[in-house]
Amino acid sequence: MGRRLRLRGEASLTLLLSAALGLLLYAQRDGAAPTTSAPEARGRPARAPTPGPRAFQVPDAEAAPPVYEEDKPEPPTPTPTGPFDFGRYLRAKDQRRFPLLIDQPHKCRGRPPHLLIAVKSLAADFERRQAVRQTWGAEGRVQGALVRRVFLLGVPGAEGGAEGRAVQTHWLALLRAESRVYADILLWAFHDTFFNLTLKEIHFLSWASSHCPEVSFVFKGDADVFVHVGNLLEFLASRDPGQDLLAGDVILQARPIRKRASKYYIPEAVYGLPVYPAYAGGGGFVLSGATLHRLAGACSQVELFPIDDVFLGMCLQRLRLTPEPHPAFRTFGIPQPSAAPNLRTFDPCFYRELVVVHGLSAVDIWLMWHLLHGQHRQACAHPQPVTAGPFQWGA
Ligand SMILES: *[C@@H]1O[C@H](CO)[C@@H](O)[C@H](O)[C@H]1NC(C)=O
Repeated sequence: MGRRLRLRGEASLTLLLSAALGLLLYAQRDGAAPTTSAPEARGRPARAPTPGPRAFQVPDAEAAPPVYEEDKPEPPTPTPTGPFDFGRYLRAKDQRRFPLLIDQPHKCRGRPPHLLIAVKSLAADFERRQAVRQTWGAEGRVQGALVRRVFLLGVPGAEGGAEGRAVQTHWLALLRAESRVYADILLWAFHDTFFNLTLKEIHFLSWASSHCPEVSFVFKGDADVFVHVGNLLEFLASRDPGQDLLAGDVILQARPIRKRASKYYIPEAVYGLPVYPAYAGGGGFVLSGATLHRLAGACSQVELFPIDDVFLGMCLQRLRLTPEPHPAFRTFGIPQPSAAPNLRTFDPCFYRELVVVHGLSAVDIWLMWHLLHGQHRQACAHPQPVTAGPFQWGA
């Protein structure tokens, strides 16, 4: 009874937040909406462009029937807008400590979690946060291991002026309400832009290192991934949290892009070496508690670099630590599932063998979760999770 009431209360709050979000998006639809998804670049092909946030409109009785847009995922991470001002970046990069506007001081109090899940998110991406909360990112015990979750956010919208400030005040109120319901929002006072993801990285590392000092492992990723937490825990079962570990989709010998037109353009004055240090793709990687503390220290001494996962590679290099490639972290290279059920990638057996899959919409995440965990799950020919050996199509 009490639980039912609580659930109903939670459901109506969710509805309320969704409605408020819809209104805010509607009000902002003429603003500079990001139009492309974060490019993978660094020598990799960019993902297909995705439409900006969809606006909800009151149906007009006289108008022609509405044409629905294709259901493509919205950008999960902030996207670069226009050419990057390196001069400004270099001048501003000594300012690297911003206050925490929304904290979760109790996240790791009491029993320390075995796994802390940290997901990069944008204020407007409430829908994906909901999908993650209610599927793979659920808090509680998974195979006996205590799992906790936080979302990492900066302040949305870069425009100044009275109107910009009013919009930010609204967002702050919404996010505070969301934090009261779910207790999983971390919001810092820097602008949530693509080139500020490095700030998100260092602020999260120092927060986790001081607020969750006894956590065994941390998974950090994007909000558009599907994580098979069971497989992840199985992979971690043989690992010692007191030893160094950072595993994921490791990229070796990536060359800085010197073409001015690229969104990933890095002038030689900013990075002079021919290749980047080995780094794990920011879509999703896992690290041990020991590495968390060492990285938090190392990253606070490395100069800011505008590409967050390369920056983390620089911190690792400082520690003389090599990221460990894991074949089941597919943060790149798998075609996105679509609503077409005949696609191979929508086969739950395919997901059963992976740890991380990238590039999913909220609906994809829901669907995959229910196919994997629902009552109608089918028997797979190869139910064992991948533990060793490279992943192969149709294996
Ligand atoms: C990062 O955030 C700060 C503080 O909000 C802002 O002044 C700066 O312009 C942002 N930097 C980039 C590269 O977006």
